Amino acid sequence: MNEQQEMNAIQEIRSKVDIVDIVGEYVPLTQKGKNFFGVCPFHDDTNPSMSVSREKQIYRCFSCGASGNVFQFVQDYEHISFKEALRMLADKAGVELKGFSHTKSHSEQDKYYGIYEIAQKYYQNNLQTNYGKKAKEYLAGRKIDDEMIKTFGIGLSLDTTNDLIQLLTKKGYDLNTLNQIGLASYDKDLYNSRIMFPLQDLSGRIVGFSGRRYDGIKENKYVNTKGTPIFQKGNTLYHYFDARESVRKKKSVIVMEGFMAAIRSITIGIDNVVSLMGTAMTKEQAELIKRLSDHVILCFDGDEAGRKATLTNGEELEKMGCEVRVVELSEDLDPDDYILKYGKEEFTRLVKNAVFFSDYKIKSLKRGINLNSDEEIAHYINSVIVETSKINDEIRRELILKTLAKEFDIGYNTLEKRLLVLLEKEKSSPPLETSIPNEKKTIKSNKYTLATLSLLYYMLTNQTARQLFEAGEIFFLTEKQRFLASEIIYYNKIYGTIQIADFYTYLQDKPELLEILKQVLTMDLSDEVEDNVILDYVKVMRENSVNQERKRLQKMMRETFDPLEQAKIAEKIRKLKMGS
Ligand code: UTP
Ligand code: MN
Repeated sequence: MNEQQEMNAIQEIRSKVDIVDIVGEYVPLTQKGKNFFGVCPFHDDTNPSMSVSREKQIYRCFSCGASGNVFQFVQDYEHISFKEALRMLADKAGVELKGFSHTKSHSEQDKYYGIYEIAQKYYQNNLQTNYGKKAKEYLAGRKIDDEMIKTFGIGLSLDTTNDLIQLLTKKGYDLNTLNQIGLASYDKDLYNSRIMFPLQDLSGRIVGFSGRRYDGIKENKYVNTKGTPIFQKGNTLYHYFDARESVRKKKSVIVMEGFMAAIRSITIGIDNVVSLMGTAMTKEQAELIKRLSDHVILCFDGDEAGRKATLTNGEELEKMGCEVRVVELSEDLDPDDYILKYGKEEFTRLVKNAVFFSDYKIKSLKRGINLNSDEEIAHYINSVIVETSKINDEIRRELILKTLAKEFDIGYNTLEKRLLVLLEKEKSSPPLETSIPNEKKTIKSNKYTLATLSLLYYMLTNQTARQLFEAGEIFFLTEKQRFLASEIIYYNKIYGTIQIADFYTYLQDKPELLEILKQVLTMDLSDEVEDNVILDYVKVMRENSVNQERKRLQKMMRETFDPLEQAKIAEKIRKLKMGS
């Protein structure tokens, strides 16, 4: 399929499902006039601030600014990718996705999932037989009871060398496949005498195992499934699929190193948790975490490796726009050991009181400095001020400086002066383009913004608006707005018409334009519009562009000392004012 054919297939799926039905499966909706209303699931609310339009096949929330088509809704609600949302809705629409580059043919992969299901049942059964006695004792010693064994699908591989292979080849699966998907090594079972923890992919299917030895030897403690066509450790988080609902409710995601830690935490009811399965976090894992929630709580092991991982991973997640907090565990304990030693209440309290990542960083800067060395102290104080300057909260900044001043007996003003210099520097450097969490998105309502968004909207629904843009009559202020306008023109030329919900998908690969379209969609405009309303907005935009030009010229005027140049600019400004 080429791109155009794919686009058509996506549109077919979109048009075969009704957004009102799909959203209605997640959120109770009531009809009022043409639209349907419900409580928006994307921000904290009890009022029905989300409307769903059957006619336009889009939803929008007037309170938090969330908006989009049916794919976007499912993506955001289920915390899945576009591809996965497409697959889900294709199933509902009864459309086959064969030959799609978006989603490869699944028959081969379905076979692998089937094999993993058989393997998991086999392993789990072993644990309940006579052969499983020692393993059960080991698990009991680690406070893992039968219910947990069931919940987490824990099993056992035997010390025979090829029982699983035999079982699977008898069912007709070939050795090659079993090698390829990480269950066999040549003609032998890959796993022997290990307690088997199943690993799931983002859709909750079992796609791998982590096998732990229970003979007390520390070497090769865990053996994980290697990279296979259906499993990549770096693209996976333990408990991702099952954590989604709880993350939504608790509005934060807790990230741990080990999956044993996650299992323990889930068992005591703190279940908005995922595990990296190690201290390293890949870019993909970071994105998955952010997809779950941009409120992240890091709860790594209390040892040196855990502290290091907290610093690097926290930094990375913050860069991506997450608000990061940290739970620090004492005595080198991991969350599993900690909970077993101090109990559920104490651990719950720690999570509730997770500290800001910036505070954690400042505290860790202090670790190991020599308090008898002025040089080291000065270096420490400087680094703290640098960290403080990154905090976007005046009160917290002041508190940190006050503590610092008291601790080292330095004048508060000295510290503040240094901070102000840094803050000034940050202001003049361009801000990082991080995406703003939904809750904080406010819809600007000055008249130029209103005119801009309205005109973009009318370009989607109205021929006159499009003609005015093509004739060069509409002055959009930013390059992105102009790009979006050009895309609207282009799309209309190709399809001869614009169905907003499909245009939305068309922009899927251009997130910076999609961002503007979302703002456009939150405006509640009627499609029928008089031409003079459009012309009024065009006038406002022209006025705006003239103002901008005047400001630019005035700035030039201030910056030049050449009287001749000044006179030229003054003339230009005068002409602008006269409207020529
Ligand atoms: P830990 O060594 O902290 O294991 O490794 P743990 O979770 O405390 O496990 P127990 O309590 O000793 O049984 C953290 C994570 O790193 C990965 C595993 O995914 C583990 O959950 N790991 C560790 C391996 O993949 N291989 C290893 O040999 C060790
Ligand atoms: Mn442990």
